[in-house]
Amino acid sequence: MKPQILVVSPMPPRVIEALKDDYDLHDYYRAEDRPALLATVGSQVRGYLSQGAVGGADAALMDATPNLEIIANWAVGYDTIDDQAARERGVILTNTPDVLTECCADLGMALMLAVARRVAEGDRYVRAGRWPQKGRFELGVKVSGRRLGIIGLGRIGKAAAWRAEAFGMPVAYHGRHAQTGVTYDYHDSAVSLAENCDFLMLTCPGGPETHHLVNADVLEALGPEGFLINISRGSVVDEPSLIAALSEGRIAGAALDVYEDEPRVPDALIAMENVVLQPHHGSGTTDTRRAMDDLVVENIRRHFAGEPVKTPVYPLP
Ligand code: 8YV
Repeated sequence: MKPQILVVSPMPPRVIEALKDDYDLHDYYRAEDRPALLATVGSQVRGYLSQGAVGGADAALMDATPNLEIIANWAVGYDTIDDQAARERGVILTNTPDVLTECCADLGMALMLAVARRVAEGDRYVRAGRWPQKGRFELGVKVSGRRLGIIGLGRIGKAAAWRAEAFGMPVAYHGRHAQTGVTYDYHDSAVSLAENCDFLMLTCPGGPETHHLVNADVLEALGPEGFLINISRGSVVDEPSLIAALSEGRIAGAALDVYEDEPRVPDALIAMENVVLQPHHGSGTTDTRRAMDDLVVENIRRHFAGEPVKTPVYPLP
């Protein structure tokens, strides 16, 4: 019998194409009757395919698939998967680190430049034919040389920091602890970092530990000349507080790739000119997405060939 795999989130066609002949793939996320599907195949399921921000896997699903061996996640973030429950059950969890680092950091820089230099707004200005009528466009804010604060100095945070150095930007960061071998200033709270930067960029993981880490106090500390850039997870930001701070001019602007209730974006954000919005695609380039696809497939193939997976999230005994 081929290994049985539950597809718990929408997956790229390349992944499905690469696996469909050697594995039985069960479309769980689209199933009309999920309990019936689990009742039929649950006890035979040995793997899940999942996607970071959509769908996911909780302890109840794992209990309904007691012979689960591996969850292969198509994203570096795995906040929609109960990793603790997986670990306790001896289930391997893999993600797609490294291959997407550069593209995510590139988007962080693009968003920072876009919001400060009013790139999206300028584009709308030209397209709407307002230039010939109204003349010169509003001024933006200089990015080079200004201070960048990064929350979550992991792979993506560091890649953004290196890029910012080339812009002559002093970099500081906040995270759970100060890192050795890093020359950037460490702040032990998000408020302190926000007080001491012009651009606050979020590159930390989502999940309970960072839930609403950026709250009204942090936004207050960022101040009326500060910009927020979020390429991590929507859950990290208290969105109503962000909307209030933006609409009252208590921060200068925001550039967001992620939201609390994706793909729904609050109308209030859509209506604001000083906000740049993207549809959660930090890793969204052909090059990187192919590499993510290949890594997911490789992890699944290795596991079912009895080999160690390439990118485990945690070691298993
Ligand atoms: C998204 C990401 O999964 O890797 C992550 O954690 O957030 C991204 O790669 C991707 O943009 C699709 O939503």
